[in-house]
Amino acid sequence: AHQWRGVIREYADRLPVDDDTRIITLGEGGTPLVHAPALSELIDGDVHLKVEGMNPTGSFKDRGMTMAITAAVAQGAQAVVCASTGNTSASAAAYATQAGLTCAVLVPAGKIAMGKLSQAVAHGAELIQIDGNFDGCLDIARKLAEAYPVFLVNSVNPARIEGQKTGAFEVVDALGDAPDLHLLPVGNAGNITAYWKGYQEYAATWTNPHQGQAAQPLSPRATRTPAMWGFQAAGAAPIVAGHPITEPDTVATAIRIGNPASWEKAEAAREDSGGVIESVTDEEILAAHRWLSSKEGVFVEPASAAGVAGLIRKHAAGEVPSGLSVVITVTGHGLKDPDWALKNADGSDVEPTRLPQDVETVARQLGL
Ligand code: F0G
Repeated sequence: AHQWRGVIREYADRLPVDDDTRIITLGEGGTPLVHAPALSELIDGDVHLKVEGMNPTGSFKDRGMTMAITAAVAQGAQAVVCASTGNTSASAAAYATQAGLTCAVLVPAGKIAMGKLSQAVAHGAELIQIDGNFDGCLDIARKLAEAYPVFLVNSVNPARIEGQKTGAFEVVDALGDAPDLHLLPVGNAGNITAYWKGYQEYAATWTNPHQGQAAQPLSPRATRTPAMWGFQAAGAAPIVAGHPITEPDTVATAIRIGNPASWEKAEAAREDSGGVIESVTDEEILAAHRWLSSKEGVFVEPASAAGVAGLIRKHAAGEVPSGLSVVITVTGHGLKDPDWALKNADGSDVEPTRLPQDVETVARQLGL
């Protein structure tokens, strides 16, 4: 029986590793590409969700982190650092633990979901809450990595992008070719950069520059590349605005970012793929979050629903032709930030029904 071996071993011929590399993996990747019947019906097309909450720490960050921590170990690192809105820190903490490295994480105080905070703590990371936002945390993390013996594992580290490009490989491997459209949330803009790189590499004859003369040219796996449609939260949409946002704000804390590190690369992905980067409101994000859990059976954290919110908005604007093949990356698990599910659409709290221990009463309540 075949067991998925993690993205590095599954895609070794397309990643910067060789036979001697000590691979740090928790079995990430191999996530389900789930057909979404209600969204497919809405747009009269074929919509699939790449459910990245199924990764070991519950988000797509694990694809990049297996590469980043593997690279850190190869270069003799003792310690790693990252800035994070929560998921990167959870992932870094887990992979650093397996590698035996010290891990420091800088997060915006009071602005990360409890599930993510608990992961970093559980894995023994040095957790520091900064009075500021993600952009300020990243600034400090970069400066630490420049001046001290500590390795930066944010997505400005190219190893992260290499690992995350495997998401695109898996989509093509599952569908047999690239979709027409690929939608996803945009925060620090690493993931849109990574998916675009992966799609391009799969559509081209490719030789791994890291494996030198031993590498055999790989033939194309896809006949085309998709248009990349990225969505920022309206209160944190610097790429849409065309300038950094000093006080980014959104319920989707994972993408509460005002000055994305991969800004130019995200714009290049948009231009080169014939795509768009637009914004969706918090109301649209929460409506898409509710749509996913109540109509598709897929529970995600709010930020993860931004791509779905984008599809619904573009469809309402008449900008989604029928008959398209569409993939949406839903980036993180709903259990990361479950509070939103316990709110009604009007913002009031969901009140679970409480009854005495009596069959008749329960049956009556259930309308049986
Ligand atoms: N969705 C989730 C759940 C995220 O955690 C992030 C980023 C994104 C989308 C956006 O991806 O930054 O590559 O454009 N989270 C980072 C973190 C910033 O620190 O966990 P991106």
